[in-house]
Amino acid sequence: MLDLCLYLPAVEKHMNVLVIGGGGREHALCWALSRSPRLGQLFCAPGNAGIAEIAQCVPLDWQDGGQPVADFCRHNKIGLIVIGPEAPLAAGLADTLRTAGLRVIGPSAQAAKLESSKQFMRQICTEQNIPAPRHACFADASAAKSHVEANYSPSEPVVIKADGLAAGKGVVMAANRQEALAAIDQMFDGRFGAASSKVLVEECLHGREASFFFLCDGAAALPLGEARDYKRAGDGDTGDNTGGMGAYSPLADLDAATRAAVAEDIVAPTLHAMARRGTPFTGFLYAGVMLTASGAKLLEFNVRLGDPEAQVVLPRLRSDVLDLFLAACSGAGALRQRQLQWDQRACLTVVMAAQGYPGDYAKGETIAGLEEAAAAPDAILFHAGTTRDSHNNLVSAGGRVLAVSALGENLAAARRSAYTAIVRIDWPGGVCRYDIGAQADGADM
Ligand code: AMP
Ligand code: GLY
Repeated sequence: MLDLCLYLPAVEKHMNVLVIGGGGREHALCWALSRSPRLGQLFCAPGNAGIAEIAQCVPLDWQDGGQPVADFCRHNKIGLIVIGPEAPLAAGLADTLRTAGLRVIGPSAQAAKLESSKQFMRQICTEQNIPAPRHACFADASAAKSHVEANYSPSEPVVIKADGLAAGKGVVMAANRQEALAAIDQMFDGRFGAASSKVLVEECLHGREASFFFLCDGAAALPLGEARDYKRAGDGDTGDNTGGMGAYSPLADLDAATRAAVAEDIVAPTLHAMARRGTPFTGFLYAGVMLTASGAKLLEFNVRLGDPEAQVVLPRLRSDVLDLFLAACSGAGALRQRQLQWDQRACLTVVMAAQGYPGDYAKGETIAGLEEAAAAPDAILFHAGTTRDSHNNLVSAGGRVLAVSALGENLAAARRSAYTAIVRIDWPGGVCRYDIGAQADGADM
């Protein structure tokens, strides 16, 4: 029989890929894609200074509408688009690109509601009997406050959440009723704009958190591993909430039964519900879970990889990601039989941020020493907010600036290596947490 591959057009053998986004997660995606022997040209919009070393960065702005992105893809024979952040997904970029006949990793706007509407996500939980905290959703303050008064004792903690996207800031962990009522008033007074026109009241769960990642093809979900991230700015979980200051993977405190419960009791019924609605989920699904005394319960879904969790999950994945992404686009159920190859080592990442982040911070500060840092054992430096100045010097350009990842035989070795790299970075205005991975339980280390 003839080898049909010989007759496939070159674009299929070496596929051009466009990644949308410009943070550390997108650098990790570009890094993973660039290891694929099938990759042709790699583009990233807008990218950053680190991504520019492995991809051609293009000043395409999805906020101009999806059509310029679709035109760019046709012009550059792009065979696959990977959308990194949630905002373009919620705005429907994947829909526009698919309508233009393009292959996309990332859900439609309707499917992205799993992240962009917490009310919708909780409706799915109720409908599918997914383990979740007790919850209720309200469109006005007085009903929400009455619900708190009727269902929670005055000294009980309650979680108050804006329904919509609020850049990770739309959750108030109220320590008692008084704080809960105040948070409800603030939210309905427009604290998060349209995102808090509806507000959820949730039971406060206790336990350790874990993030689980899946690649979904509309019907099947392939587990991409798990991570634990550090959301607070300061050591010992102090300071403001951030996008994430560090992460590690895998989690030694997870057993096979918990991993299976997340896949079977949380993710599978969600995919089923989305497919049944006619809005199948294709792309990355991130389940944020609380490991409670009565099992894993769903805190949130994100419709993308985590940042900086991608920077610890992708370095451990040995399988060809381009191949996997194409399989995910090739039809519902195509991922069902896939087996992944993993690096058995641990991976840990430490974020270097501009002093002041997540509040005000300086930009344009020179950063040096990255080559020395990258020479630490099995270190991988991912860029987030970086750019080049007019003299071609590397300078900071955002709040989270670098994610310094390292692989190691165990978490302690990965941690040592990541911090060895960090101290070689010459950036006086840069700050990081020094306790990433330090609080992991003994088994992790
Ligand atoms: P979310 O954006 O819904 O994941 O919430 C952000 C963070 O708030 C989570 O990572 C948890 O740390 C916390 N959180 C959210 N919902 C709850 C809950 N019901 N119980 C306890 N903590 C929660
Ligand atoms: N690191 C948390 C997130 O990506 O949502």
